[in-house]
Amino acid sequence: MSVFRELFAEIFRRREIAAVVEVGVEFGQVSSVYADLGATVHCVEPSPADDLRAFLAADPRLNLVEGLSPAVLDELPAADLYVLDGDHNYAVVRAELAWIMKNAPDAVVVLHDVLWPCGRRDFYYRPSPLPPGDVHPSTDDGPTVWHDEVTPAGFVGHDAFSAARHAGGERNGVLTAVEDALAEADGWRFEIVPAVFGFGVLIREAAPAAGEIFDALRPLTSSHLLATLENNRIALYTRILQLQYEAEARTADATEMAETIGSQQREIEGLRAELARAKAEIVKGRHQLQGLRDETARPVVPPVKDEELGAAVSHLGRALSARIRKSSGPAR
Ligand SMILES: C[S@@+](CC[C@H](N)C(=O)[O-])C[C@H]1O[C@@H](n2cnc3c(N)ncnc32)[C@H](O)[C@@H]1O
Repeated sequence: MSVFRELFAEIFRRREIAAVVEVGVEFGQVSSVYADLGATVHCVEPSPADDLRAFLAADPRLNLVEGLSPAVLDELPAADLYVLDGDHNYAVVRAELAWIMKNAPDAVVVLHDVLWPCGRRDFYYRPSPLPPGDVHPSTDDGPTVWHDEVTPAGFVGHDAFSAARHAGGERNGVLTAVEDALAEADGWRFEIVPAVFGFGVLIREAAPAAGEIFDALRPLTSSHLLATLENNRIALYTRILQLQYEAEARTADATEMAETIGSQQREIEGLRAELARAKAEIVKGRHQLQGLRDETARPVVPPVKDEELGAAVSHLGRALSARIRKSSGPAR
């Protein structure tokens, strides 16, 4: 919303704005824009992060209101400007407008996100306080302008919010809520600056400076050029979302592949070490085998020289003759 600073400046220039209720603060990027233009700002945020608390606490012009719109609106003083950028769905926006039209009918109301993607499709911040009857079937996927179905590569909430599965139809989307509120209330005027998701301005025609504010904004609210540029921006933006999604998927694939390659390389190194060990075993086995072969090839009895053999034979002959003589001995 901070890109709309000059539009807020136009409004503040034409109308005394002492108090602003900012619904949906998130990081507090815009809160001080209203304060710098001269207002006290009631910053409504259901779950402020520590950074936001610290930021708002440091600036006395900014008052943190921890709670949900529209329920908390009753607790706040009526404001001159309501900036609605909280829960982007029909039920909440319709209830916020009903409260403002009844309790602060002279206020200027600025609504962000009245065009694609929230104009005709509900988005639900988590946890949603809405009863089931106010919630369309929803999904974590998001829309794109490149086809009708929602997709994980579309405008997604990353756990912060979900989106209605289908766009259009009754009680669906921020712009539908504004149109239905206008249909039930006389004398209110609504114009859209068709830029950065749509900047809607709603003022009762009899409210102070209503005509001057719409006149000042007319070059932008009536600009076909701006509307065309916004459509083109959305087409490029959603294409980038798709490319980012694909790039992330490829990065995840590449990381997985690198992990697989790493583990396969470790496995190959292990197998190489095993192979080296096996080769060493084989070499050792061959040596042992060769040793055994050598062992078996060696004669068990050492070779006997011819002269030793001759001596042994004549020795044996002599011993044998002596034995024969002895056993045949003299007759009795
Ligand atoms: C789109 S962001 C607001 C961005 C902010 N206006 C800016 O321009 O920087 C919407 C914020 O509304 C808050 N939110 C959701 N539901 C809400 C509710 N019912 N009332 C007030 N804030 C709400 C979310 O927590 C989120 O921080």
